[in-house]
Amino acid sequence: MILNNKVILVMGLRNKWSISWGVIRKAYENGAKVLYTYNQGDEEKMKKLTEELKGAKGYRCNVSSDKDIEKCFKQIKEDYGKLDGILHSIAHANTEDLRNDFILTSREGYAHAMDVSSYSLIAICKYAIELDLLNENASIIALSYYGSEKSVEGYNVMGAAKAALEASVRYLAKDLGKKKMRINTISAGPIKTLSAKGIKDFNSILDIVEEKAPLHRNVTIEDIGNVATFLFSDMSSAITGEVIHVDSGFSTVGV
Ligand SMILES: NC(=O)c1ccc[n+]([C@@H]2O[C@H](COP(=O)([O-])OP(=O)(O)OC[C@H]3O[C@@H](n4cnc5c(N)ncnc54)[C@H](O)[C@@H]3O)[C@@H](O)[C@H]2O)c1
Repeated sequence: MILNNKVILVMGLRNKWSISWGVIRKAYENGAKVLYTYNQGDEEKMKKLTEELKGAKGYRCNVSSDKDIEKCFKQIKEDYGKLDGILHSIAHANTEDLRNDFILTSREGYAHAMDVSSYSLIAICKYAIELDLLNENASIIALSYYGSEKSVEGYNVMGAAKAALEASVRYLAKDLGKKKMRINTISAGPIKTLSAKGIKDFNSILDIVEEKAPLHRNVTIEDIGNVATFLFSDMSSAITGEVIHVDSGFSTVGV
């Protein structure tokens, strides 16, 4: 099993539809010990969801707060020692900024989406390094979407936040590379999750992927979990700073 003896922290579990849940399950199936963070939802619900996963433990963490990240990472280090991988599976934008035209995005709404969905990755990396939470060869993964590269109806401010996230991954790769650590982005095809419900006409985006993508199907949280498992594993030891599309090939199609 390619993740034997690895401890992976998955940040951003909400429910069984979450992409993070697909990653947790695949990492666990492949031998990892899995820890996770959640922000919404109560502790009991999270425990119930993860009860079949031996040794899985959850920590509450609001990534808008440096104090929260620091406290959470200190606790994890005390409980489990160092980590071999972190998944950042977190994003948020105000509903009105996903419903109105992009030009109407408020200063506050832009700052909020950037803070939660993009800056938080930098903060996570910073505290993980400062607290010496990562083993050598650790692998960090963030989640993005095609709306960072092209304008996608309704994705709006989240597209700008994802573009910043992908650029941040390239710069973080340089810093983390000095410590022999890696960081990559998975650009996932659209998946019906609670967050995706905030995007206008999300079902029509799913239909377009089925129609136009070379594989003529939408992706699943398991598809993302498999690629994340590869990126956490030593099999991907020469890959860093990349955006890897897991989208049935949709982003490769022109006309
Ligand atoms: N669903 C899709 O179509 C899709 C496609 C590509 C990328 N993504 C990305 O995948 C990631 C996971 O989203 P998902 O679709 O699984 O939805 P989800 O709602 O299951 O997960 C989003 C998570 O972000 C967390 N979050 C929001 N604000 C937070 C904060 N301040 N602190 C800590 N956590 C916070 C939520 O609690 C939740 O766990 C996001 O980065 C999203 O942009 C989703």
